[in-house]
Amino acid sequence: MARIGGCEVLQAAAMLVFLQMSSAFEVKDEGGKVCIIANMSVSFSVKYSTKSHQQVANFTLPQNAKVLTNSTCGKEKLLAPVLVIGFGKGHSLKMNFTKASKQYSVDKLTFLYNLSDTSLFPNSTGGTKEVSQKPNIQADMDTRYKCFSTSHIDTLNVTITLSNVTLEAYVLNNTLSKNETVCDADKTHSTTAVPKTTTQTPSTTSQTPTTPPPNPATGKYNVTGTNGTCVLAHMGLQLNVSYDKKDRKTGLEVLNFAPENTSFTGSCDSSSAFLNLTFEKTALVFHFLLNTSTDKFFLQGVTVNTTLPSEATTPNFEAVNNSMNELRATVGNSFKCSAEEKLRVEDRVFVNVFNVWVQVFKINGNKFGAVEECQLDENNMVIPIIVGAALAGLVLIVLVAYLIGRKRSHAGYQTI
Ligand SMILES: *[C@@H]1O[C@H](CO)[C@@H](O)[C@H](O)[C@H]1NC(C)=O
Ligand SMILES: *[C@@H]1O[C@H](CO)[C@@H](O)[C@H](O)[C@H]1NC(C)=O
Ligand SMILES: *[C@@H]1O[C@H](CO)[C@@H](O)[C@H](O)[C@H]1NC(C)=O
Ligand SMILES: *[C@@H]1O[C@H](CO)[C@@H](O)[C@H](O)[C@H]1NC(C)=O
Ligand SMILES: *[C@@H]1O[C@H](CO)[C@@H](O)[C@H](O)[C@H]1NC(C)=O
Ligand SMILES: *[C@@H]1O[C@H](CO)[C@@H](O)[C@H](O)[C@H]1NC(C)=O
Ligand SMILES: *[C@@H]1O[C@H](CO)[C@@H](O)[C@H](O)[C@H]1NC(C)=O
Ligand SMILES: *[C@@H]1O[C@H](CO)[C@@H](O)[C@H](O)[C@H]1NC(C)=O
Ligand SMILES: *[C@@H]1O[C@H](CO)[C@@H](O)[C@H](O)[C@H]1NC(C)=O
Ligand SMILES: *[C@@H]1O[C@H](CO)[C@@H](O)[C@H](O)[C@H]1NC(C)=O
Ligand SMILES: *[C@@H]1O[C@H](CO)[C@@H](O)[C@H](O)[C@H]1NC(C)=O
Ligand SMILES: *[C@@H]1O[C@H](CO)[C@@H](O)[C@H](O)[C@H]1NC(C)=O
Repeated sequence: MARIGGCEVLQAAAMLVFLQMSSAFEVKDEGGKVCIIANMSVSFSVKYSTKSHQQVANFTLPQNAKVLTNSTCGKEKLLAPVLVIGFGKGHSLKMNFTKASKQYSVDKLTFLYNLSDTSLFPNSTGGTKEVSQKPNIQADMDTRYKCFSTSHIDTLNVTITLSNVTLEAYVLNNTLSKNETVCDADKTHSTTAVPKTTTQTPSTTSQTPTTPPPNPATGKYNVTGTNGTCVLAHMGLQLNVSYDKKDRKTGLEVLNFAPENTSFTGSCDSSSAFLNLTFEKTALVFHFLLNTSTDKFFLQGVTVNTTLPSEATTPNFEAVNNSMNELRATVGNSFKCSAEEKLRVEDRVFVNVFNVWVQVFKINGNKFGAVEECQLDENNMVIPIIVGAALAGLVLIVLVAYLIGRKRSHAGYQTI
C-alpha cells in the first residue's frame, strides 16, 4: 500500500513539474529583475541535403527547451535585450528586441541549427547553419503582445511557424502587463468570430478584444420525439477551425455559439437521435446512437457546415466525423463534464463543448437523471486528493519521528 501511495505521489509531483515546464521563457538581469517573458508554440520545417537528395525535417520546439545564458536584458542604447532559447543538440532560436518611441518590436529572429543532429536531420551531411528574418511582431510599450493566429517566417531553406504567442519585452513589474496589443491577424478573426452578444469585460483600455475569445455561454437545447423529450443538452459550443488562406498562410476561425441566437431542432427514433443547431451561418449536427448491448447512449457523429472568411481557399466549409464515441452514459442517466471537451471532427476542425450535461433517449419528466461524471472531472478531483494525502502522510511521518525522538531523549535523560 505504502509503495502504491508513494508512486501516486511521484506521479502527482511529475504533473506539477510538467505544469511548471509549460511556463514561459524568462530573461532576468543581474539583479534578478525580469525583462523579457515569452510563451509560444514554434514549429520548424527545414530543407537539408543528404548524400543523395534533398530532404525536409519538420519538428517543434520541444518542452525541454531552455533559456540560454546568452540571453541578456541589454544596456540602454548600447545593447539590445535578447532572448535565446536552446534545445536539442545545439539548436537555438534567438530574438533580439528594439524599441522606438512608444513601441517595441522583434528586430530579428534568428534560428541556428546543427545539421549533425541525426535525431532531427537523419542522413544529413552535417554542418551548422543560421537563418534570420525580421518577423512582424510589435507592440505598444508596457503591453503584452498576443497573437493566437499562426504566422510563418519563410527563409530559403527554413520555415518557422509561430502560434499562440504571448510575449513582452522591457517588462516593468516582473510580470506580463495587464494591457495587451493584439496582432492584426487575431483582430480580423475575433471581430468576425466573437459574437457581439457575448459579455465582454468592459474595456477601459484602447486595446482590442482579448483572444482567444472567452468561453461560450451555456445553452439549453432539447428535442421532442414521439414519446416526449428525447434529447436534453446543456452546453457551451465553440467551433475551432484552422484553414488555408489564399495567401498560403493559415487562418483560424473561433466561433462561440450565442445561445439566444442559436436555433435548434432534431429528431429521434428508438436508437438514433439528431440535435441540429444553427447559429448565424454555421450549422452543427450532433448524432447520438444507442448501443443496445451496453445500454449506453453516445455521440457518434458531428457534422459542421460553416462559411469561413472570404480569404479562405474554400469559404464554404463542411466536415463530418461519424466514428466518434463521446459523451457516453447509461440510458436513463446523464453525462456531465465541466472540463472542456474537444471533439475532433477533422485534423484541424474541433467542436469544443464546455460545461456539457446531456441525456438522450430515455428522459423521465423532462429532467436529467443520475449523473455520470467525465474522466477529466474525476482526475481534477483526484490530484488535490493525492496532494492532500501526500501532505497528510508527511505530517504523520514528522509526528512519528518527533515522538520517537522525544522518547529517546527522554530515555537518555533518565539514565543520567
Ligand atoms: C539550402 O539547402 C541547400 C541544400 O538543401 C543547400 O545547398 C544550400 O546551401 C542551402 N542554403 C542556405 C542559405 O542554407
Ligand atoms: C513538413 O512541413 C511542410 C510545411 O509545413 C509540409 O508541406 C510538409 O508536408 C511536411 N512534411 C512532412 C514530412 O511532414
Ligand atoms: C551562446 O554562447 C556560447 C558561448 O558562450 C556560444 O558558443 C554559442 O554559440 C552562443 N549561442 C548563441 C545562439 O549565440
Ligand atoms: C540583433 O541581432 C543581429 C545579429 O543577430 C544584429 O545584427 C542586430 O544589430 C541586433 N539588433 C539589435 C537592436 O541589437
Ligand atoms: C537514411 O537513413 C535511413 C535510416 O534512418 C536508412 O534506412 C536509409 O538507407 C538512409 N538513406 C540514405 C540515402 O542514406
Ligand atoms: C496557448 O498558450 C497558453 C499559455 O500562454 C496555454 O495556456 C494555452 O493552452 C495555449 N493554447 C493552445 C490552443 O495551445
Ligand atoms: C507594479 O507593482 C506595484 C506594486 O505591486 C503596483 O503598485 C504598480 O501599479 C504596478 N505597476 C504596473 C505598471 O503594473
Ligand atoms: C493600461 O490600462 C490602464 C487601465 O487599466 C490604463 O490606465 C493605462 O493607460 C493602460 N496603458 C496602456 C499603455 O495602454
Ligand atoms: C423544448 O422544451 C420546451 C419546453 O419544454 C418546448 O416548448 C419545446 O417545444 C422543446 N423544443 C423542442 C425542439 O423539442
Ligand atoms: C438534422 O440533421 C440530419 C443530418 O444532417 C438531417 O438528416 C436531418 O434531416 C436534420 N433534422 C432536422 C429536423 O433538420
Ligand atoms: C416509445 O415508447 C414505446 C413504449 O415504451 C416504445 O415501444 C417505442 O419504441 C418508443 N418510441 C421511441 C421512438 O423511442
Ligand atoms: C451547408 O450550408 C449551405 C449554406 O447554408 C447549404 O447550401 C448546404 O446545403 C449545406 N450543406 C449541408 C451538407 O447541409
